[in-house]
Amino acid sequence: MNNSKEVSQLDVVTVLGARPQFIKAAPVSKALAQLGLREGLLHTGQHYDEKMDAIFFRELSIPFPVENLRVGSDSHGRQTAKMLIGVEDFLRKSNPALVLVYGDTNSTLAGALAAVKLGIPVAHIEAGLRSYNLAMPEEVNRRMTDHISRLLFCPSDHAAENLRTEGIVNDVFVTGDVMLDAVNAFREAAFLRTLPEGLARDGYYLLTIHRPSNVDDPDRLACILRMIETLDYPVLWPIHPRTLARLDVPKLPQNLIVSEPLGYLDLLNALGNSKALITDSGGMQKEAYWLQRKCITLRKETEWVETLEGGWNTLLPPGSEVEIAAILARTPDTWKPLYGKGNAAKDIAANLLRFLKT
Ligand code: UD1
Repeated sequence: MNNSKEVSQLDVVTVLGARPQFIKAAPVSKALAQLGLREGLLHTGQHYDEKMDAIFFRELSIPFPVENLRVGSDSHGRQTAKMLIGVEDFLRKSNPALVLVYGDTNSTLAGALAAVKLGIPVAHIEAGLRSYNLAMPEEVNRRMTDHISRLLFCPSDHAAENLRTEGIVNDVFVTGDVMLDAVNAFREAAFLRTLPEGLARDGYYLLTIHRPSNVDDPDRLACILRMIETLDYPVLWPIHPRTLARLDVPKLPQNLIVSEPLGYLDLLNALGNSKALITDSGGMQKEAYWLQRKCITLRKETEWVETLEGGWNTLLPPGSEVEIAAILARTPDTWKPLYGKGNAAKDIAANLLRFLKT
């Protein structure tokens, strides 16, 4: 599907490029196709390793991108600038009725910005999330994207309220979270997989860390690893390439079992069978919640504030005096559903169709 004639027939161009966006696209692309909408994926190439990129397209049956800009890694400004040029060129030749973006990465901002400057309306999925910490690149990306989007799809009432506070009230839809749709669609297949050797259900913790604030500062990373060393069970750690580049692997704590980044199915399986998750990821806080696993978030704030209620998720900024063991020993309150009913993708697709018909 990479000739210009077909590209010019697209209703929707979805700009994406980082691992969490591939997961979000899986249910949404399916729902768009079911309504007969012609969608083309434009991959920025922000993530490009097999384990950060291609494996998701294969496992989740996501449509193959129409084009890949292959921008690769760079400083934030340069990476976003390269994406802007590539997205603009693609949108000029495809001229879609709408551009769709997900979340808060540099690919999100570049897609939205290139589109609005060409007068193409933008729909933002996962709108209204806020950490109120502008030191996070994601906070800048999501704020900018929300303020230039025409349609805003929020995972929760709280997110819609955040938008209202900033004066964004039109075409805001609370649909629930498309990541819940993905968990529901793939959990059965995920739990058929085998765990990494030596690990058994409830016999290990799962760790993921990749935020610049945690991994770019060697003291902070060392502080996290010292805390991990105190844990009473093995810790499975699929390492993000950004983090791996900063590690002295032979000197890691003995209880760590390191692996390459996991594909989506292996990750859901590893998470669903773990004693608890320790992470700085946004999406994984929710995945832990939906799979009813406790989560410790290695940050001082979270966008997903609802997960903190009832003690399922607890903030633990690295360097804090609080003992990780004390948090892990607590029993959380009764679990209740969060972020919708698992039909967000269908709801979003129906709203997009309505918008495109008017
Ligand atoms: C990005 C997103 C973050 C998201 C995360 C998911 C931004 C600002 N951040 O962070 O919100 O949670 O993706 O993973 O967009 N690298 C590789 N191979 C890859 C991808 C990255 O080796 O396939 C390495 C590169 O050295 C690169 C570093 O990882 O410099 C960081 O990658 P980048 O995409 O810039 O940001 P993430 O940290 O992955």
